Amino acid sequence: MRALVYDPAAPHRLSLGQAPDPEPTPRQALVEVAAVSFNYGEIAFRPADGRPGHVSGWDAAGVVVRPAADGSGPPAGTPVVTFGWSGAWAELRAVDTDELAVVPDGVDLGTAAALPVAGVTALQAVRLLGSLVGRRVLVTGASGGVGRYAVQLAARAGASVVASVGSPARGEGLRELGAAEIVVGPAAMAGRVHGVVDNVGGQQLAEAFNRLADGGVVQAVGMASREPTLIDFEEARTRVDRGRLETFNLATPLGDDLAYLVGLLARGELDAQVGWRGPWERALEAADALVGRRVAGKAVLDLRG
Ligand SMILES: NC(=O)c1ccc[n+]([C@@H]2O[C@H](COP(=O)([O-])OP(=O)(O)OC[C@H]3O[C@@H](n4cnc5c(N)ncnc54)[C@H](OP(=O)(O)O)[C@@H]3O)[C@@H](O)[C@H]2O)c1
Repeated sequence: MRALVYDPAAPHRLSLGQAPDPEPTPRQALVEVAAVSFNYGEIAFRPADGRPGHVSGWDAAGVVVRPAADGSGPPAGTPVVTFGWSGAWAELRAVDTDELAVVPDGVDLGTAAALPVAGVTALQAVRLLGSLVGRRVLVTGASGGVGRYAVQLAARAGASVVASVGSPARGEGLRELGAAEIVVGPAAMAGRVHGVVDNVGGQQLAEAFNRLADGGVVQAVGMASREPTLIDFEEARTRVDRGRLETFNLATPLGDDLAYLVGLLARGELDAQVGWRGPWERALEAADALVGRRVAGKAVLDLRG
């Protein structure tokens, strides 16, 4: 089958080549992939010591061609959106049946492919902020994949959302998604917030932490800045009475959360925010745009025209 494979000599260590078909375990369905999406983490942090020919990729959507042998999961012919820690970027994907969701009629598979890691990360991180009704929440890196979902989901949960972006242009469209305020970096934000979804790390994480209201919490999701964070807790204690900083990691299996999000998509209550879409032959262009901060939301690649 064709696949985007690990290629140590290629830009982003990624090239379109050939790989053996996957062999599903009894609890896995085999899916013919129609579209995949790229996440910052799997492009920017590709290892230097990967195995040539390895098929990476977390997010894919397609149609079940062989149901799981153990009887779990949907039958052949069902459109699904899928997650796994590898194997997405290929014509065929074997996927655990608790890591997929059925795609309802009317939802395009390319749009659904934008959901898994970014959408479920945003959902789980917003959930960990606790009740948000009438509260103020800051999302850093709000222009990106996780950020654009987090803005929508926090606003939906009743929060007044402050969206932090790198420039005014990167904030375009965020008010339409539910942001009450847009700021260029957390330092530009006036006042305090109950919760933070931080996708950027570095200095922005330190600044966001210092803006917590009493009892507030930061979910440290990512480090798109690639900068470590230095927090002076002695200074922080003079500014924040009681605040928590929690490391976040996506919790799996995520099939139930994915089903919730794809349901929102189907009802028009969530926008997948696909900011770049093209054929997978243009994968390197998509990867460049993503790490170059030129994608508003998600980058989606179609396997077939
Ligand atoms: N812990 C987990 O389970 C988990 C799950 C998913 C993602 N993540 C991490 O969360 C972060 C966000 O993921 P994502 O998929 O939303 O990424 P993304 O789509 O690329 O968005 C990241 C945003 O961060 C901002 N940014 C600030 N400094 C940057 C820099 N030096 N380089 C690139 N972007 C920069 C950009 O916004 P501006 O251009 O507006 O500044 C960009 O829109 C990544 O670090 C990712 O690895 C972690």
